[in-house]
Amino acid sequence: MSEPKKWVKEDPNNRFLFWPTEIMKKKAWVSDESIYKEAEKNPIAFWGKKAKEGLEWFKAWTETYQWDPPYYKWFLNGKINASYNALDRHVKTWRKNKAAIIWEPEPPDEPTRVLTYNDLYREVNKLANVLKSLGVQKGDRIGIYLPMIPEVQIAMLACARIGAIHSVVFSAFSGESLKSRMKDAEAKILVTADGYYRRGKIVDLKANADLGVADTDIKHVIVVKRAGNPIRMTKGRDVWWDQLMAKAPLYCEPEPMDSEDMLFILYTSGTTGKPKGIIHDTGGYLTVALWTAKWDFDLHDDDIFWCTADIGWITGHTYACYGPLLNGATILVYEGALNFPQVDRWWEIVEKFGVTIFYTAPTAIRMLLRWGEEWPEKHNLRSLRLLGTVGEPINQDAWMWYFNHIGGGRCPVIDTWWQTETGATLINALPGIGPFIPTVAGRSFPGTIHDILDETGQPVKIGEGGYLVQKSPFSPGMLRGVYKDPERYAAQYWNTYGDKIYYTSDGAIWWDELGNIRLTGRVDDVMKVAGHRLSTAEVENALTQNSSVAECAVVAAPHEVKGEVPIAFVVLKQGINPSTELESELIQQVIRAIGPTAKPAKIVMTDALPKTRSGKIMRRILKALVKGETVGDTTTLMNPETVEDLKQKVG
Ligand code: PRX
Repeated sequence: MSEPKKWVKEDPNNRFLFWPTEIMKKKAWVSDESIYKEAEKNPIAFWGKKAKEGLEWFKAWTETYQWDPPYYKWFLNGKINASYNALDRHVKTWRKNKAAIIWEPEPPDEPTRVLTYNDLYREVNKLANVLKSLGVQKGDRIGIYLPMIPEVQIAMLACARIGAIHSVVFSAFSGESLKSRMKDAEAKILVTADGYYRRGKIVDLKANADLGVADTDIKHVIVVKRAGNPIRMTKGRDVWWDQLMAKAPLYCEPEPMDSEDMLFILYTSGTTGKPKGIIHDTGGYLTVALWTAKWDFDLHDDDIFWCTADIGWITGHTYACYGPLLNGATILVYEGALNFPQVDRWWEIVEKFGVTIFYTAPTAIRMLLRWGEEWPEKHNLRSLRLLGTVGEPINQDAWMWYFNHIGGGRCPVIDTWWQTETGATLINALPGIGPFIPTVAGRSFPGTIHDILDETGQPVKIGEGGYLVQKSPFSPGMLRGVYKDPERYAAQYWNTYGDKIYYTSDGAIWWDELGNIRLTGRVDDVMKVAGHRLSTAEVENALTQNSSVAECAVVAAPHEVKGEVPIAFVVLKQGINPSTELESELIQQVIRAIGPTAKPAKIVMTDALPKTRSGKIMRRILKALVKGETVGDTTTLMNPETVEDLKQKVG
């Protein structure tokens, strides 16, 4: 296949602007601009058509969309099953023996595992029967605390098959984090593993799981044998996956679920210390997972799609499980670290399996950029034809490096904006349409409506910044609520501009008259640390658990590679002196409470925090300090003298 050497076009304003080549357009599922207008004319009809075309329903819906602010429903009274759509449909076709999952373990000398659609189907059916035999019923919540091994997709789909609601917890989260989520979800069963490999070492996951299930309603812990590390099995509670699966019947009837029934709960950080359980439904989520996977990544049957996100995040749910499997695609799953045993491990994998579509986070790209192009240059990456990014704003240097050194100047870079709450991508360029603009995510996915508003709720003009919102009809993939917390749902998303406008908490700028949008980052106290979503309040809660801490405030500081990192300002109790030992103790405290991703980059010990006369911590000032910006007006402060002291300490 010959490719045009140069497909870069500069726009009149001297910005980079890339358009798809004729070859890309020809291959793409959508290449005609008119799709946007067509969907816009009647988004409800558009999604209705897509839901029917892409999925097999046991019973057709009677009403496509219903809106009762701040709630909306899609495909009302329709009956559907996620596992049936991801598996049964394919095993009835030639795809039966197609690879569904290619799994690469971290230890390079361990063999690759390939699961065909039929293998996956069989394992999912068996596990569904196992869950039933343990008393799981439709609507029960099941915790999944697994690393990136195929058992994670098997467990999710097995839950979906019997109508149980899965709640996956990131395997690098601590036992304490697991516990608070399992308690909130009132989970009955936890699926975990003995351990897994991370940078050549075995992580003792089961020990964390044991901490996590203590004092919860969890009756059974199903343990996958992955790393073979010695673990403690609690009699009567813990059971080995293999033993249960050996006896399990091979077929389990898929449960016909109401389209609006919960498919999963995924906990994510908000602005308070308590993570919220984001609820996703079945039919709406599946529709958008399927079509965004297909159109954004131009997913075809001969593709090998690698989404590097961990399954513990929404990106893993939608693009390392549901989206591609609904399309009958082949996904690559890698267990370990990107730099093990060397920093070219990812490229070795791309070359080994001929990965065609590669989707990762800007943080990873910036890390790879630092290590230098000599690493990707050692490998033949010509199988790649499309690149994607997600999770945080991408800077132009990283975008261009990705485009040139990973994509070889051939592959479009699809920068997808979305959130745990939105379930699937919402704002990005489509590969057959473009344009692909570094630092600009793109346009609203067909059938979705976004706007950018100023503080008063007025739409902003092109080139101006404001707050990104979504308008009705809301994407069928959007959250259906916050688990057991309708007040928080209403307050967080439907309060800023009223209950008819979904507030994203993201800053954005209209880029051009085409409707392209540049995202500028969160405007609340949610941090994106190496693409991971964390709240400053969670880190504060962890720190104040230490008996030496009187008070603290955590803010996000910009970081060259990770995007943002937490910086903690800590006031110690009287009589306690700052020390490096205490600093490491506090860091360990955060790791224990949340996990290594939340580790503060710096702990600033101080006598006082800047406060208003009413005693409120002025975070604005701390934020300005860590960003190296001017602090501005300090006259309203009760203790303006702290600012100078903190300035010295922050450095
Ligand atoms: O601030 C936005 C940022 O990530 C937030 C959502 O985080 P989370 O729920 O963990 O989901 C991440 C993966 C979908 C958003 O509010 N974000 C996500 N994608 C982008 C982004 N910021 C800029 N550009 C993106 N492409």
